[in-house]
Amino acid sequence: MSISLSQDTFEAIPSPCFVLEEEKLRRNLERLDSVQKNAQISIILALKGFAMWSSFPLIKSFLKSATASSMNEAKLCAEKFSALAHTYAVGYRDEEFDELMKLSSHVTFNSLNQFYKFQDRVPPRISMGLRVNPEWSDVVADLYNPSQTHSRLGLISSRLPETLPPNIEGLHFHVLCESSAAALVQVLENFEKKFKKYLPNIKWLNMGGGHLITKDGYDVELLVNTLKYFKKKYQVEIILEPGGAIAWQTGFLKTTIIDIVENQGSPTAIIDASFTCHMPDCLEMPYRPEIMEGSHHAEKYPFRYNIGGISCLAGDFLAGYSFSKPLKIGNTLTFQDMMHYTMVKTTTFNGIDHPSIGVIGADDRFELLKTFTYQDYRDKLS
Ligand SMILES: Cc1ncc(COP(=O)(O)O)c(C=O)c1O
Repeated sequence: MSISLSQDTFEAIPSPCFVLEEEKLRRNLERLDSVQKNAQISIILALKGFAMWSSFPLIKSFLKSATASSMNEAKLCAEKFSALAHTYAVGYRDEEFDELMKLSSHVTFNSLNQFYKFQDRVPPRISMGLRVNPEWSDVVADLYNPSQTHSRLGLISSRLPETLPPNIEGLHFHVLCESSAAALVQVLENFEKKFKKYLPNIKWLNMGGGHLITKDGYDVELLVNTLKYFKKKYQVEIILEPGGAIAWQTGFLKTTIIDIVENQGSPTAIIDASFTCHMPDCLEMPYRPEIMEGSHHAEKYPFRYNIGGISCLAGDFLAGYSFSKPLKIGNTLTFQDMMHYTMVKTTTFNGIDHPSIGVIGADDRFELLKTFTYQDYRDKLS
């Protein structure tokens, strides 16, 4: 994978910096839009995965709305996406609920407790739904598997009454993560077995996120056919709310090597960014990002290095990257596919600055959108 940029453009980018490549985002959106049109469904942006709001005008030209999982996301949706949110949170806070409703077009409850508590405070223009759990997922890492045993995410079928409360208009499930269309087919088989009896009485079905529609090789035809079949069979409006798929492979994190340390014969290149602060999925999932200047396969090139983050966390490093020549202090390391679940999850642990944020537009020009300072760190604390 390489970044198709002129050397001058690339050198103008400060370090560290998250950089969105707008044309790549547009290509993803075009593909998602073709699914919307061919299957006659709606796709909305999951803000929890990608919330770089300077790109919202572009996203909005393809996707009508976004899903919010908190008051802040709902506010961002209203202010920067100019849309009412499809709101779903694991739990709603009493003091926020009424304001949250002003910012929402749909609200989904994670439990019957929450539904009974809040239903009378939902204005009639808002469509109410329940999150259900089909108890099947292809996700192997428990950290990302909403269908694990004792999951708190959504009602399992045995917890639902024989008929849904009359004011419930929709059902929602989310059990996939970077999954294929074939995985969705299997989810739907399980979903149908458990929840079929409710389908004649609902208007919409939100099939959550985790559909990696924009990955090369994703079977878009299978997805479209599956959605069309399901929509026709049950006469429901279908909504998908991917986050990752929207920003999949649309940008990078440029970093610089500021030191190289070597203990017990294994050199570590220390970068001016941090995995735990800026790329947490690399440690949590764990996920090994590709790197432009070398390889994430230890065997590919002769010079092997660990790459170390700048924080004090002992585990803030990734082992076993390889390079065609020895690394030097001052070299650039560019981590690929760094747009989704990065900026939305960053921390300033150790007081480490957030990387700058920039964009490369269709004209191949780099625009620096935001830099962070001591004040940003200080003002998060008191
Ligand atoms: C309820 C819900 N919807 C949508 C998403 C977006 O998923 P993804 O970014 O994998 O497409 C998530 C991710 O955690 C989620 O929890």
